[in-house]
Amino acid sequence: MPSNNDVKSYWNSRPCNINHSSAKVGTMEYIKQVAEKRYFVEPHIPKFANFIGYSGKKVLEIGSGIGTDAISFALNGAEVYSGDISSVSVDISKKNAQALSLDNLVFFEHDFQNRKLPITSNFDLIYSFGVIHHCPEPQLIFNNLKSWANPLRFILDMDFCAEEASMKRWQFGQRPRKIHLLHIHIQKSPLKKF
Ligand SMILES: C[S@@+](CC[C@H](N)C(=O)[O-])C[C@H]1O[C@@H](n2cnc3c(N)ncnc32)[C@H](O)[C@@H]1O
Repeated sequence: MPSNNDVKSYWNSRPCNINHSSAKVGTMEYIKQVAEKRYFVEPHIPKFANFIGYSGKKVLEIGSGIGTDAISFALNGAEVYSGDISSVSVDISKKNAQALSLDNLVFFEHDFQNRKLPITSNFDLIYSFGVIHHCPEPQLIFNNLKSWANPLRFILDMDFCAEEASMKRWQFGQRPRKIHLLHIHIQKSPLKKF
């Protein structure tokens, strides 16, 4: 099994979507081009995330990557806390947030397999997109989720599932041949598989 350090080094060497723009990180041009490309290539994301639905709510994101979805929640008025195990990704996210002068958005480095968060809990939404299946012990994160959420609030997670050996390889970026999209929306409906 890969260690947490292996996973961290992997994503530090290639932060997710880093090449969606050739502009300089932390510039408006970069932020805009990355967001445009992300939501063009994956138009299901805004629909799934419902960025405008969480204005005034407290959102925790698990696995921010370079911060595009966290920025979208914050631009729509949510109070956002977004973490990633990759320090390089977190640095890029912070530069992007600084360029936008957003004071309702905090990026932090964290391995979400650890229950103790560096911030207070009781989130209205816990959001994660394409992250948990990359963790060596995904069950640890699932076990933590309920302790971080407000009772009767939402946990939105988009992940993929496949047979275990493929998933292990995918922790290092090799996409499994057969995958299923696993979309978990706890509280509203127990577990949906597509
Ligand atoms: C495929 S990228 C997705 C990033 C972002 N959610 C997006 O959709 O662009 C997977 C991310 O999960 C992060 N990650 C993997 N294991 C993690 C863990 N245990 N805790 C926090 N982040 C983790 C990686 O560093 C990487 O940024």
